[in-house]
Amino acid sequence: MNNKTKKYLEKANKYFMPSLLHQYYEEPILVEDVNMEYMFDAEGNQYLDCFSGILVTNAGHCNPEITEKVAEQLERIQHVSTCFLTEAMVDLGEKLAEITPGNLQKSFIVNTGSEAVDGAINLARTYTQKENIVSLRHGYHGRTTTANAVTGVGSWRFIHPDPLGIHYAVNPYCYRCPLDKEYPSCDLACTVALEDTIKHACGGRVAGILIETIQGVGGYVIPPPGYFERIQKIAQKHEALLIIDEVQTGFGRTGKMFGIEHWNVEPDIICMAKGIANGFPMGAYIAKPKIADSFTAPSISTFGGNPVSSAATIANIDYLQQQKLWENAEEVGEYGLQKLKTIGENHDCVGEIRGKGLMIAIEIIKKNGSNREPGSQEAVNLMEHLKEEGVIAGKAGAHGSVVRFAPPLTISKEQMDKAVEAMDSSLAKL
Ligand SMILES: Cc1ncc(COP(=O)(O)O)c(C=O)c1O
Repeated sequence: MNNKTKKYLEKANKYFMPSLLHQYYEEPILVEDVNMEYMFDAEGNQYLDCFSGILVTNAGHCNPEITEKVAEQLERIQHVSTCFLTEAMVDLGEKLAEITPGNLQKSFIVNTGSEAVDGAINLARTYTQKENIVSLRHGYHGRTTTANAVTGVGSWRFIHPDPLGIHYAVNPYCYRCPLDKEYPSCDLACTVALEDTIKHACGGRVAGILIETIQGVGGYVIPPPGYFERIQKIAQKHEALLIIDEVQTGFGRTGKMFGIEHWNVEPDIICMAKGIANGFPMGAYIAKPKIADSFTAPSISTFGGNPVSSAATIANIDYLQQQKLWENAEEVGEYGLQKLKTIGENHDCVGEIRGKGLMIAIEIIKKNGSNREPGSQEAVNLMEHLKEEGVIAGKAGAHGSVVRFAPPLTISKEQMDKAVEAMDSSLAKL
């Protein structure tokens, strides 16, 4: 570690709470510069970024076309609050209604994913006049009190008691089925278990079922075909709203603009953030008009709909649409997935490789352990080896044993080749 990195690490330790300093790597990276698919550290190293700042920079770091639009807005209006209208905020509302699936039309604009989830839960409770929310084990929804309460990943839960009315159901994690079954002979038993939670833990009274399209922090758990269709039927039967958290899966990441478009359902509310603005603070939840119109209590968000973040979001969506980046996500994602599956066969520590678009998970298991025993330390080591090879990846999973690739959607096949080669040689070192 050079002196500059050391100095900033010491300062960070002195001035930040430890909770904020869960840095990747034995020797944390001080980021000095970024450019589209690349990050550069203070030591002069270049990295191919296969994590996109936690699935945010979908259009590439500091994408010049987006920067130009943001700079124009910076010169014009930087802040007025939601007490006043701005063109940027209103145009953004219109854009979100245009790009979201089904009849989602009215938004509430906030700053983060946690706030979007909190808001969606409040809206579901307001509209249904019921209190219970069912979410999934291994789901991650944020840091605020309610968003953290609906989070079902042990390592990211704070130790405070949950607010009332939150209930968990098992997740559709087919690689390690919580019900010890196999798809498709299971006949989606996890959805039966979810309905059981509604019937017996909630006495049939449930305001909303909150589910990520693909569990991100949970390790890219991809629900099998038919899952969401079954969940929607359960929601309708119990007059509960289907709330889809697209904070990680949104904005082209999975090969479609929104992840839920891979299933044939119509969400009642969608939560968005992260890739919505390519790095600017922005979040939103959008609902069907009848549901949205039930939220009449006065409410403001000082920074929600901030003109600079709104301009960034519009520029980002325009860029995604012009470049059809979801198509590149699908093509390069599938290309990388197949290549990773091929190299994965040569390494005993690879349990499963799965993915949709540019959300690809490498499930690491212990080499000499019992069947499918999570390789948590091995995943940490793998991350270090990848870094040495010049590739930044993410880590996830309920056991911290999943290494994930989620590069900017602008990534080329040649860059994906480099990431796969780095994975191959890093796996060989385990
Ligand atoms: C699916 C999902 N929902 C919500 C959140 C919370 O977003 P934020 O960190 O912007 O509050 C995250 C963050 O990782 C997430 O992955």
